[in-house]
Formats: sequence, C-alpha cells, structure tokens
Amino acid sequence: MTALLDHGMTPDDFLLDIGCGALRLGHKAVPYLKPGHYWGTDASLALMRHGRLTELPDPARLPEDHLVQDATFAFPTVPDTITLAIAFGVFTHLPHADLQTALTNLRRFPNLRSVLFTVFLSDDPCPTRQPDGVVTHPDRPPYHVAEERIVQTVAEAGFTASRSAQLLPRGQVLWAAVPPQIP
Ligand SMILES: C[S@@+](CC[C@H](N)C(=O)[O-])C[C@H]1O[C@@H](n2cnc3c(N)ncnc32)[C@H](O)[C@@H]1O
Repeated sequence: MTALLDHGMTPDDFLLDIGCGALRLGHKAVPYLKPGHYWGTDASLALMRHGRLTELPDPARLPEDHLVQDATFAFPTVPDTITLAIAFGVFTHLPHADLQTALTNLRRFPNLRSVLFTVFLSDDPCPTRQPDGVVTHPDRPPYHVAEERIVQTVAEAGFTASRSAQLLPRGQVLWAAVPPQIP
C-alpha cells in the first residue's frame, strides 16, 4: 500500500492487483479506493473469494466479478479504466518469461500510469542468500534475476524501468515500469 501511495495513488485510481491472492493488499486498498475501483487477478479464484469474504471490512465494496481467475496474465474482463497495476510477490515465484508476458499484455490499458512489481535480484548463476536470509535460485522458485535483465525485459515490453530504493520484506526489490503513453 505504501508503495502505491508513494507512486501517487489516490482514491480515484483504478487499481489492478495481479496475483492478489487472499487480498493482503486488497484489504487496505478496497476501503481506500472508491467503490468498484479495485480489480484483482489470481490463478486461484477460491483464494480470492475467500479473501473477499474474510479479509474485507465491507465485501460489498468489491463486486465479486472484479476478482478474475487468470493464470496467464491475459487480464480477461479487466476494463480499460485501470490506472495503476501492482504484482507484489508474484514474479518472485514464476519464470522470468511471465513478467514479459504480463507487461506486454498490460500495454492494452490506455490510462495506465505505472506497473509496480517485485523481484529478487542477483546475477549469480548459483543459489543466492538475499539480505534477510531467504535463498533464491536462477532456475526455480523463489527466483532471482539479474538487474540488467529486468531493465531489458521492461524495455522490450515498451516500458521504462526504475528501481526503488525502498527495502521490502525478504529482500524483494520493488520496480516501477512506466508505459510509453506517460511523458
Ligand atoms: C506469494 S503470493 C502473493 C499474493 C499477494 N500478491 C500478496 O502480496 O500477498 C503469490 C500469488 O500469486 C498467485 N499466482 C501464482 N501463479 C500465478 C499465475 N500464473 N497467474 C496469476 N497468479 C498466480 C498465487 O496464487 C498467489 O496468490
């Protein structure tokens, strides 16, 4: 939530929470945003629906059809109104190609200002101990990726990458990808 506020989120924004799980972010973002301004996707519909009923102070603020089952980052039925997207702790557990797919598919949102996502960084071809102790791998979850590869992937998808200095749990690194329509 802090990362989104730091990137200028206001209650008027339309947020897409990619890999939102049981609404760990949603339980703060849904009450903050205007009703209907939150959309979540995840591979597990059951997890999202459970989160909606158990985590939200007022589930009525989040229509059930704003929680979209999507394991391929195609974002089906998510409307063009989306202005901010976040994927927290998602690409840390998925092959790097999924980040490229997601960014490429996010280009269809004309009002998008920024895509925030987290990864573990390392250019070591061996398992790497991150600052707070979690061990990441180049070829299995939790994955790490070289910083240059992130910059390249974001650029190939047509966005501009910037790395945040903010320290995140488990040594994840927060990135923002800014789409080309933003000057
Ligand atoms: C570590 S959890 C993070 C959940 C949430 N973003 C948070 O910060 O609490 C990773 C989430 O990614 C989802 N996920 C895994 N593979 C996915 C895929 N291919 N497409 C969409 N979501 C996926 C999982 O179901 C899980 O909810």
